[in-house]
Amino acid sequence: MIKMTGKIYIIGIGPGSSEYLTKKAIDTVEASDYTVGSTRAVDLFGDISGKIAFNVKDLLDKLEEGVDLAIKGNTVSILSTGDPGFSGVLNTVLRISNEKSFPKENIEVIPGISSLQLAAAKCHIQWDNANVMTFHGRENIEDILPVINNGKPTIALPSRKVKDMAQFLLDNGVDANREVVVCERLSYPDEKIVESTLKDIAQSEFTYMCIMVIY
Ligand SMILES: C[S@@+](CC[C@H](N)C(=O)[O-])C[C@H]1O[C@@H](n2cnc3c(N)ncnc32)[C@H](O)[C@@H]1O
Repeated sequence: MIKMTGKIYIIGIGPGSSEYLTKKAIDTVEASDYTVGSTRAVDLFGDISGKIAFNVKDLLDKLEEGVDLAIKGNTVSILSTGDPGFSGVLNTVLRISNEKSFPKENIEVIPGISSLQLAAAKCHIQWDNANVMTFHGRENIEDILPVINNGKPTIALPSRKVKDMAQFLLDNGVDANREVVVCERLSYPDEKIVESTLKDIAQSEFTYMCIMVIY
């Protein structure tokens, strides 16, 4: 029997803790034939069938596998940490689907709580009045320079190590005593919120899972 074209859900899973998973995300994953995501993302959903976990190296292969399964008629959930539309997998999945002529009307995006939103909440920042920037996986770090002194806080996903980003700002004349907050591993039991100055942050080590807030 030939199956009809399936469906792809691109789902935001929030910053990491299951407390920030939406009911819509859980219900959609539980009703799917397959769920594609990083190991930490798929593990959030416990004992579901059809798990396809990826690591950074095989991300594209696994996303393609997900789209191929949907083409064969399956319902496939593709997980993105935070929100899929903020440095997430949204554009990549749309591109692959388009290349494989998978119909856009069979793709639904389910938003999640971005790590950026949680960082803004932790710092009591109304983020419609902040410079919201992502340098994740990009080499556009100099885009921060025209806005860094505009009087608004800057909330940024760093492109490289936090200390390197701080050093870049120092090298470009930003005041060494500028207040910086680093939000590390938000929502995890070992979450850390470090309030310091730009010069001290340039000397500190953090994991890659950080948001920087520069006041
Ligand atoms: C591929 S991007 C995904 C961003 C995601 N789509 C979002 O909306 O949060 C990964 C980067 O997001 C940030 N990030 C994701 N989860 C985080 C968390 N729990 N705590 C702090 N930063 C996080 C880090 O900067 C990390 O390097």
